[in-house]
Amino acid sequence: MSNNNVIGLNNQLPWHLPKDLQHFKTITLGKNLLMGRKTYQSIFSYINKPLPQRNSFVLSKSSLEERYTNFENIKVFAEFESIEEFMHKNQQTQLYIIGGEQIYKQMIDYADELIISHVNINCEGDAFFPEITSNIWKIQNEELVKDNIDFKIKVYTRHL
Ligand SMILES: NC(=O)c1ccc[n+]([C@@H]2O[C@H](COP(=O)([O-])OP(=O)(O)OC[C@H]3O[C@@H](n4cnc5c(N)ncnc54)[C@H](OP(=O)(O)O)[C@@H]3O)[C@@H](O)[C@H]2O)c1
Repeated sequence: MSNNNVIGLNNQLPWHLPKDLQHFKTITLGKNLLMGRKTYQSIFSYINKPLPQRNSFVLSKSSLEERYTNFENIKVFAEFESIEEFMHKNQQTQLYIIGGEQIYKQMIDYADELIISHVNINCEGDAFFPEITSNIWKIQNEELVKDNIDFKIKVYTRHL
């Protein structure tokens, strides 16, 4: 997110940071990802498929066109409880929440850890990350990365 908590503009990322994309890939490869329908469509607009080598769980109450869903590694769920059920059945315990604003807002209270790239820019946006409350979240690790805009990867763990 930017210094003013922006994560998106017009359903796209407001920046292009190759090292952040690489970092995202490293963390998420082989994992279960939860995202909102708009974030999924945003990713699809870049790569014409779900993120490869990961399982995408998409929350949506609308019926997505088949061109979005006709892949082995994506499943659409109308409510979060169905994702929990699916994971339980498949003995899966770890879920990475990858946005966007609506999903982060609903899920932050259930997260154990936040891995945030703080991008050193103030920018215009229409999607924001919720407040990271300092009495709940403590910084566990912090690393500065030089890219076309510098960003700091901060890992927060829950203390309440
Ligand atoms: N910087 C980053 O790291 C980052 C990461 C991810 C996303 N983003 C940005 O964030 C923006 C998108 O965020 P957004 O808040 O507009 O959308 P979003 O959270 O990606 O998706 C919202 C949609 O998810 C579905 N949804 C949400 N809560 C639900 C629930 N409880 N049950 C069932 N479905 C639910 C609804 O889909 P239906 O309308 O189909 O029912 C809703 O319209 C984009 O600009 C994107 O680029 C940035």
